[in-house]
Amino acid sequence: MAGRAGSFVEFALPAPLDGGKHRSVTPQLNDLFKFLRFPSISTSSSHAPDVRACATWLVERLEDMGLLVRLHETPKHPIVIAKNAHKPGRRHVMIYGHYDVQPVDPLELWESPPFEPEIRDGKIWARGATDNKGQMFAHALGVDAMLAENPDLPVNLTFLFEGEEEIGSPNLAQFLVHNCDELKPDVIAISDTGMVAPGVPTLGYGLRGITCCEAILRGPSGDLHSGLFGGSVANPASAIGRLVASLHKIDGTVAISGFYDDVRPLEQWERTMWSHVPGVSDMDYLTVTKSPGLYGEPGYSTMERVSSRPTAEVNGIGGGYQGEGSKTVLPSEAFAKLSFRLVPDQDPKRIMELVAHHLEWNCPPGVRIEIIPGHDGKPYITDPNSTYGLAAQEALRAAFDAEPVLIREGGSIPIVQTFRDVLGADTLLLGLGLSDAQIHAPNENFPVENFEAGIRLNQALLKELAK
Ligand code: BES
Ligand code: ZN
Repeated sequence: MAGRAGSFVEFALPAPLDGGKHRSVTPQLNDLFKFLRFPSISTSSSHAPDVRACATWLVERLEDMGLLVRLHETPKHPIVIAKNAHKPGRRHVMIYGHYDVQPVDPLELWESPPFEPEIRDGKIWARGATDNKGQMFAHALGVDAMLAENPDLPVNLTFLFEGEEEIGSPNLAQFLVHNCDELKPDVIAISDTGMVAPGVPTLGYGLRGITCCEAILRGPSGDLHSGLFGGSVANPASAIGRLVASLHKIDGTVAISGFYDDVRPLEQWERTMWSHVPGVSDMDYLTVTKSPGLYGEPGYSTMERVSSRPTAEVNGIGGGYQGEGSKTVLPSEAFAKLSFRLVPDQDPKRIMELVAHHLEWNCPPGVRIEIIPGHDGKPYITDPNSTYGLAAQEALRAAFDAEPVLIREGGSIPIVQTFRDVLGADTLLLGLGLSDAQIHAPNENFPVENFEAGIRLNQALLKELAK
């Protein structure tokens, strides 16, 4: 084990690793910058060596803190497990995070290169700054600081950091099943979600589930001249347009038969509580999205629709000529990539059956349809006022010196419900990301103050959970 001295050598470097442009870069930020420089894009196989290098760096950094660290191989990207010396009678806390990131395209829209972190306007700009390297590494540094003060933590701690979250955690469930006895914690904490507004500590007690698929429509065996053949056969690009349009009614509700059957209605106390939460008004959504208007299922506020109602989304659509100018072609095929956000008590497998049935039934004549199912994950909900929930609220209060708000999140972390199913433990979602963090988009960013709050939050949380 390298021991703590290693980090001190780095801390003494004369110029920070951002090239010296920003004299205010602290040793902790400098460390985060190293982590952010790995292009650990899990979805692209050409980046597999970068994902691995990132995991290896993480292992070494966690070992430097004095933790016992193991790297577990999976069929794809490795899982990193780090623990302190566990002692009987102490609470077992697991902290989960992911070190993989989303692709960076369109690259030309980035104001600084995605894997060359920079500080501008008090924010860290890099792919993964919020989702999830900045948030997860704040926890690692919180533990680092605690260990530096006292090598005995108040809890039995397990860090579980994976490299496949952004591709649906295909290998993590099996890992949990095989290592259940060793991993089984009392409670799990994750910072991979959002805060409703700067300075407003936010405890998430729900996540939406997800199920994805791709529909491919095939017509003629090859592209045809649209003059010689237009009018003779069905056009797959027109057909995909009609098929996609069939997913919604004109008012924005999902038109798939049975889609809403298992949806758990919102509780009145949630609707009342959320009507007082800052940062989630219609005007806030308009400001963040810069969209000309809001749109969605009637009868719910925008925040309610995003957090607690299911949706159908077209993530991508294509087919035919995409180049400059016009080309008179009748394409041989067209596709749409679809995802469905789910809420308690919808089951992703059941919903995909309904989706497939809908797509086949509504497929226009003259084309063949192929449906390729993608990854899925269950929705999650827990009690924000459970013993652990209250401890999390107290830790948030301490770290931010403000009263926490309670929300359900619109995004998905599919492994969270699997944690409950396999390990029997609930998860606290201590979000540190802001709504303008640009996660999954160009110019992802994370305020330095949130990073620092995350370090304090970790320490407050471990102390609260030890009680
Ligand atoms: N960190 C996000 C999820 C998130 C972000 C939840 C903000 C709540 C608020 C996570 O990395 C993510 O992007 N998840 C994917 C899951 C999918 C790939 C299975 C998502 O939600 O699209
Ligand atoms: Zn993400």
